[in-house]
Amino acid sequence: MMILVTGAAGQIGTDLTTTLREKFGNQNVVAMGRKTPMPKDIAEGGPCVMGDVTDIEGYRKIVDGYQIDTVYHLAAILSATGESNPQLCYDVNLNGLYNILEVAKDHGQRLFCPSSIAVFGPGTPLENTPQETVLKPTTMYGVTKVAGELLCDYYFHKYGVDVRGIRYPGLISWKTRPTGGTTDYAVEIYYEAVLNNRYECFVRADTKLPMMYMPDAIKGTLDLMDAPLESLKHHSDFNFAGMSFSAQELADCISARMPGFECTFKPDSRQNIADSWPDSIDDSAASEEWGWKPSYDLEKMSDDMLENLKRKLG
Ligand code: SER
Repeated sequence: MMILVTGAAGQIGTDLTTTLREKFGNQNVVAMGRKTPMPKDIAEGGPCVMGDVTDIEGYRKIVDGYQIDTVYHLAAILSATGESNPQLCYDVNLNGLYNILEVAKDHGQRLFCPSSIAVFGPGTPLENTPQETVLKPTTMYGVTKVAGELLCDYYFHKYGVDVRGIRYPGLISWKTRPTGGTTDYAVEIYYEAVLNNRYECFVRADTKLPMMYMPDAIKGTLDLMDAPLESLKHHSDFNFAGMSFSAQELADCISARMPGFECTFKPDSRQNIADSWPDSIDDSAASEEWGWKPSYDLEKMSDDMLENLKRKLG
C-alpha cells in the first residue's frame, strides 16, 4: 500500500500522517503540503513532497512518482478564511477535489475526502441533526462541502471510485494548531489557559457546537477506511459525533483544572458562522454501518489536552 496525505502540515494532517506511518510503515506514507513548512517530525519521519492540489498535472506527477494507491485528501480552506477569500476557498476545495477525483478515477485509487458540520445551515434541525436533512449552508466553505459530498458520491456511482468521508465536527488537538476555522476557539482556549491563564473567546458564552478530540477523529477515519465496502450504504457524508458543549461549559471545565483561569467573551464575525451550525449530531448511520463509537468526553479530553500542552509549552 502506498498512501498520500494532502494537507499533511495541517491540524488533522500532522496527527493522521503520524498514525498512518505507525500503521503502514514510515516509507509507505507520503506527506504532501503546499506552502506551510512541514513540522520536523513529519519531514524527518518519512517521504514528503511539496505540491498544490489545484495543479492537476503537478499532482499527477507526484501520484505517478510514488505509485500512490490511497489518498487522504485533507488540503482545504476552512470556514473563516473561506469567508475572507471565497474565491480561494472555491478553488482549493472544489477544483482541488475535482482534480483528486479525476486522478483517482484514472489510477483506481481509494480516497478519503472529509466533509464537515458546515454542510448544515439555517433550516437544519439544531439538536441531534439527522443524517438526511436540509443542507443549505450560508458559508462558501459549507457550499464547497455540500457540493464536494455530491461530487464524491457521483464518482462512486459513475466510475466506482471507492471514496469515503465523514462530516467532522470541530476538532480539538494539541499537536498542530488549526487555522482559519470557526471552531478554533475550542483549541485556542487550552493554549491560552496554559500560556496566560486567560482567554478572550470570539464566540458568545452560550454558543454550543459539536466537537471531537483528535484521537477519536483519527480512529473514526481509519475505521471508516477499514470498513468492508458492502457494509456501507453511505459513502462521503457520514454524520460523526463526539461531544457537544457551550463555550461557557468549556471555560468552566478548564477553570476547574486551572485555578484562576479567566475567560471573557467578545464575539466577532465568526459568531454568525457558529450560529448557522447545529448544536449536536445524530451519528447512528456511522455506528450502524461501521461501528463508530467515541471514547472522549469533555472531562477526559480536557485532562489530556492540558497535560500534553503543559509538556509541549513548558
Ligand atoms: N472546524 C471547521 C471550521 O471551523 C469546521 O469543519 O471551519
